Amino acid sequence: MTHPKTAENMMNGAGPIEQALLPRLLHITEAAAIAAAYQMGRGDKMLADHVAVEAMRRMLNKLDMRGVIKIGEGERDEAPMLYIGEEVGTGKGNIVVDIAVDPLEGTNLTADGIPGSIAVMAMAEPGGLFHGPDVYMDKIVVGGDVVRYEKEHPDERINLDFPVAHNLQIVANALNRDIDELVVVILDRERHKKKIEEIRASGARVSLVSDGDLMPGIATAIRGSGVHVVMGAGGSGEAVLTAAAMKILGGKILARLVLPNVANGESEEMIAKEKEEKMPRLVTMGITEDSINDVMDTNKLVPGKDVIFAATGITPGQFLKEVNLFGGGDARVHSVSMGSSGVVKFTDTIYIVDKEETPVRLM
Ligand code: FBP
Repeated sequence: MTHPKTAENMMNGAGPIEQALLPRLLHITEAAAIAAAYQMGRGDKMLADHVAVEAMRRMLNKLDMRGVIKIGEGERDEAPMLYIGEEVGTGKGNIVVDIAVDPLEGTNLTADGIPGSIAVMAMAEPGGLFHGPDVYMDKIVVGGDVVRYEKEHPDERINLDFPVAHNLQIVANALNRDIDELVVVILDRERHKKKIEEIRASGARVSLVSDGDLMPGIATAIRGSGVHVVMGAGGSGEAVLTAAAMKILGGKILARLVLPNVANGESEEMIAKEKEEKMPRLVTMGITEDSINDVMDTNKLVPGKDVIFAATGITPGQFLKEVNLFGGGDARVHSVSMGSSGVVKFTDTIYIVDKEETPVRLM
């Protein structure tokens, strides 16, 4: 009898990056997550970030590939490791990749032992990830159901310039529910005061997060997560990483660059100073004062065709559990990894150091 050869076809459809590196990507985010987990709750976000960065970099440098960090810890002069432009990998083999990393997304969350922190990264062929400056991006993120609805209803497409209530009505229509049954995640920031009021006025429910708006974005594309929309201005790196996952999961992000002082409503003087500091660098990336407000969609943020993504929970999250430490280095971790072929894996992994004292047990 014939049957759809789903797994076989997906293996055949996977690009060279996915074939060679997707399984390895998990070990990298898991190494960073375990390192960060040992620093959880110690109140030292710099240290937690530092150990995660170190672990991720050591692991990246074991891979047979030539990789360049496109979204990283910052510019070379402010970040000693995994800085934008840093080359990683052994340099062996034919695989060449652009890389986006956030070894510790939610530094405060880890330092304070609060849910929602992850180690996360994505890769794509050269030119496959938006190489943007380290500023904010204002965004709206929705799952694949909305994308399908938009295709069927071309007059009802979400738009960053629409009033909040209009966008939420489109999402509600797409999900076949009322607006008051939607949950919108947004960072709890003064700059979002008006937007939060508008979301509430529309009837939708708001879930405020103190930090970490990347994983909630991905959650919009995962049924049962309880998150339907993510809105508001967060890190541009987080937006690109979200786009990498949405490209694979079929969801959608619309985003535009915003200078932090503009987003946070600082004085004209501070905005002018920030422009003076940041615009020259932006111009070298092809972004001018005229184009800075252009809206980018998922494909613009992640044009790559052979995209891979992995994230590992550090503290408990929407759909990834926290790292469990069992003594002597044994650890249990929960991750999600995915590739352009359409393979999405949720993994529950135990690293055993002392095999006689095995921490392996059923859930
Ligand atoms: P870190 O990983 O650098 O701690 O970022 C956490 C985060 O909350 C992101 O999820 C979010 O996009 C960004 O910071 C928001 O920045 P800000 O704290 O400046 O509003």
